[in-house]
Amino acid sequence: MKASIVVLPGDGIGPEVTREALRVLKAVAQKKGHELRFTERLMGGCSIDAHGVALTDEVLKECQASDAVLLGAVGGPKWDDPKAKVRPEQGLLGLRKGLGVFANLRPVRVHEQLLDSSPIKPDRLRGVDILVIRELTGGLYFGQPKGRDRKDGHERAFDTLEYSDFEVQRVVELAFRLAKARKKKVTSVDKANVLESSRLWRQIAADVGGRNPDVALDHMLVDTAAMRLVTSPATMDVVVTENMFGDILTDEASVLAGSMGMLPSASIGEKGPGLYEPIHGSAPDIAGKGIANPVGTVLSSAMMLRHSLGLTAEAKVIEDAVDRAITEGCRTRDLGGALTTTQMTDEILKRLS
Ligand code: NAD
Ligand code: IPM
Ligand code: MN
Repeated sequence: MKASIVVLPGDGIGPEVTREALRVLKAVAQKKGHELRFTERLMGGCSIDAHGVALTDEVLKECQASDAVLLGAVGGPKWDDPKAKVRPEQGLLGLRKGLGVFANLRPVRVHEQLLDSSPIKPDRLRGVDILVIRELTGGLYFGQPKGRDRKDGHERAFDTLEYSDFEVQRVVELAFRLAKARKKKVTSVDKANVLESSRLWRQIAADVGGRNPDVALDHMLVDTAAMRLVTSPATMDVVVTENMFGDILTDEASVLAGSMGMLPSASIGEKGPGLYEPIHGSAPDIAGKGIANPVGTVLSSAMMLRHSLGLTAEAKVIEDAVDRAITEGCRTRDLGGALTTTQMTDEILKRLS
């Protein structure tokens, strides 16, 4: 098959990890006779430096016209001035909105050989296989109004957490569809004891649950979910939640897998290209050292093959190679090993079947 993929390496370790994912994608494409065309573009801080904005209209259009978008990470101290008018993260949010990718799939698996890489006790981690579905184009990130003004003689800042019924419904329905191919269990996470938006969320989730009696639905408050995620993660399967709760819970969940560098993600919408990125950021503390773990991005590229290009077997080839490399002891520094970013990828490449 032929496909065209826009690659947005971004900032910090973004270019270091996307480079490696591209090596893996190219190797698999060559092995299986697929023609993948990659177009690299600027997005994030690097785009601010070159064009004054984090995402140009031109790059957004190219992404919209592509089959899939692969992203490293954006941001960093250079662009972190709280007073700055433009921020790298605006590019990422604009891209997610512009592609309409309302569901961010973040699988969290714990590799048997990495039980000791987590600070959580191994007996709690065994068998963990969670799929967090994070709503991605609504909630606090996008609600209006947001801004600053003066109130009662004080400077005030405000954001708006809003959800419409259809935004909740489409992501919860997706969670149920995906749950049917798994353990038929959905945990909907909210803060319905406090937030009106969460009460709507819970009501819609219950409606969807009522129409899908073959799937068990439970509702959990987000603070409890944060606790359960480390005390009894193996009891969770599909978790669906609003934008910011999902962001925070998945960084927490990365601790189960041993490192932030391990977790991939796929952002998908009703139709059109998906967006694929690791859950980690630009990691300024290790950028430029060649030691970042490429696994999250390599696994994101496997998710791209599966969800956007329909290449299930090829996705599995990549996932199996990563699995074997880890089973056979290959580790970057974040997991207590000594392999560089490139050496870790070399080990994955050797194991592509
Ligand atoms: P971060 O995820 O970049 O880093 C958190 C910690 O995890 C750091 O100690 C880092 O070294 C480590 N880490 C992350 N990825 C790693 C990898 N692949 N291998 C080994 N270690 C890894 O979070 P942060 O430092 O809070 O944020 C840095 C910047 O990244 C900020 O500007 C933030 O906005 C941005 N960010 C971007 C994205 C994205 O583009 N999708 C996601 C998260 C954060
Ligand atoms: C992520 C990041 C982003 C988010 C930031 C950089 C906007 O933390 O992809 O998880 O909060 O969505
Ligand atoms: Mn995040």
